[in-house]
Amino acid sequence: MAEFVHFVYKVAIIIRSRKKRLRVLKLLVLICAIVYVIYIYSTYLKRICIEKKREFLEFQVIKTFHYNNVIYQSPIAHLHQPKPKTFNRYTRKPVRLFVIMSMQRSGSGWFESLLNSHMNISSNGEIFGQKKRRQNLTSIINTLDRVYNMDLITSSSKNDCSAAIGFKWMLNQGLMEHPKEILDYFSKRGVSVIFFLRRNIMRRLVSILANSFDKDARVLNGIHVSHVHSHGEALLLSRFKPTINVTSLKSDLGKIESTVMKALEYFNCTRHIIVYYEDLIKNPYKLTQVEDFLKLPRMKLSSRQVKIHKGPLSGHINNWKDVNNTLFGTTYERYLKSDY
Ligand SMILES: *[C@@H]1O[C@H](CO)[C@@H](O)[C@H](O)[C@H]1NC(C)=O
Ligand SMILES: *[C@@H]1O[C@H](CO)[C@@H](O)[C@H](O)[C@H]1NC(C)=O
Ligand SMILES: *[C@@H]1O[C@H](CO)[C@@H](O)[C@H](O)[C@H]1NC(C)=O
Ligand SMILES: *[C@@H]1O[C@H](CO)[C@@H](O)[C@H](O)[C@H]1NC(C)=O
Ligand SMILES: *[C@@H]1O[C@H](CO)[C@@H](O)[C@H](O)[C@H]1NC(C)=O
Repeated sequence: MAEFVHFVYKVAIIIRSRKKRLRVLKLLVLICAIVYVIYIYSTYLKRICIEKKREFLEFQVIKTFHYNNVIYQSPIAHLHQPKPKTFNRYTRKPVRLFVIMSMQRSGSGWFESLLNSHMNISSNGEIFGQKKRRQNLTSIINTLDRVYNMDLITSSSKNDCSAAIGFKWMLNQGLMEHPKEILDYFSKRGVSVIFFLRRNIMRRLVSILANSFDKDARVLNGIHVSHVHSHGEALLLSRFKPTINVTSLKSDLGKIESTVMKALEYFNCTRHIIVYYEDLIKNPYKLTQVEDFLKLPRMKLSSRQVKIHKGPLSGHINNWKDVNNTLFGTTYERYLKSDY
């Protein structure tokens, strides 16, 4: 009898421990399942986040020019080993090449001064402002070779710590006369393109007229300036209200639009990013996007330049009524409204 009781007792223990083991096993399975679900969910979230980021970085939607246009950028940014002839480069650090394509009075001077405040960016200004550098294709290619090999010394050259080398090229400085050959050069050397444009080209027109007025008037102590570094100076300059020729206004705006469109078409297949002046003013994160595009470490960038024309456009144009009447109800009407 005692033996039987002992046996039953043993069986009970086995069953209980089996039950216990089963319970533990169940618990383990449950924990595993939970961990697995959490893991899957988090990687899913991460993937979505990365995808969103990539979408954000690689696709730019251009909303101007009557249609929406999504432009793809190749994620590869070529590295390049400069071989300067004019000095010894101590580091063997490779660099990335870029060009800022823009138009006069678009705020690109401000943009470039922001870029140059990055310790690893050397953007050499409007190097094709000098006519002899763009007289023919040979001189253009020579100039490109010199700037990208760091042989063109400008005020913003930073030799050894440079990780990105570029310059500013205005669309009317020989760029649109040899698009095929220049495109070839860009593809061969892996030059990344930053389009720096204005959404409101009417504002650009005001800036052009005011600037050409100041070339003669020299409002600031008899010196002509294109960019200013204080609010007082900006106010003084913005007091001049240009009168806009409404006879040619629509065709002038049309010409600017078509030049920009052509440039976007010609250089569409380069690795590029489009930055609008207006977006940069509203959202400084655009600069981070540019740093990422150039694959540079992120830094706080700053500029001393101050904006000249502020507030609604109507306050900056002498014959506002005529301008409004000319553009109202046309495709250019949107230029009357927006600020900046
Ligand atoms: C191109 O322009 C340069 C001056 O910048 C000149 O010396 C050269 O002869 C020109 N070449 C041709 C092929 O016209
Ligand atoms: C940027 O410049 C700093 C300072 O000269 C240097 O230490 C650093 O390596 C540079 N970064 C890159 C990516 O070249
Ligand atoms: C305005 O533009 C028209 C057409 O281009 C031109 O004929 C006219 O002379 C211009 N007016 C002024 C004041 O510049
Ligand atoms: C640029 O290329 C893309 C795709 O190749 C095309 O859809 C788009 O219309 C082009 N944009 C311009 C301005 O030519
Ligand atoms: C422009 O003109 C239209 C119609 O003539 C008028 O309704 C509108 O208020 C004007 N806009 C401005 C900003 O003056």
